[in-house]
Amino acid sequence: MADILQEIKKEHDEAREVLHQIHTARTKELDYLKELYALLTGHHRAEEAVAFPKVASYDEKGKELIADLRKEHTEAEDKMLELIRTMQKGAPLDLEMLQEIEGDVLHHMTEEEEDLFKKARQAFSKKELEEALPPFEDEEEKAKEKAEKQVGL
Ligand SMILES: [Fe+2]
Ligand SMILES: [Fe+2]
Repeated sequence: MADILQEIKKEHDEAREVLHQIHTARTKELDYLKELYALLTGHHRAEEAVAFPKVASYDEKGKELIADLRKEHTEAEDKMLELIRTMQKGAPLDLEMLQEIEGDVLHHMTEEEEDLFKKARQAFSKKELEEALPPFEDEEEKAKEKAEKQVGL
């Protein structure tokens, strides 16, 4: 049975694919950026609601890790939104900013696949990881829809 760690990994791979598309798109960068924003914002809210609380309350290291990951969510969303807003006003894609966001997001996902997954396997039982999947998907869908409206998708 699928669990939230498999779902998180799957969504990370989708984000990696959209990042790749932004680079190769040439003409539809803004659309892909909006897609990335909505995908990651939905993903972040689901992680924060379903995966993070149990890891944060597991031990001191878990608490520090989650504080760090939450901060990185906010920073990535702020940067993506700023880039989208600037482009909506007619500016070309700021490649330097895109590289920065890409670096941040890739680093964050690796950190989760290594440190968060390890802690989550301690904090959750195998059954709990599976049972958390439906609420994770619900939360993700709701927040993604909201983010899509926010950027006009
Ligand atoms: Fe995350
Ligand atoms: Fe993630």
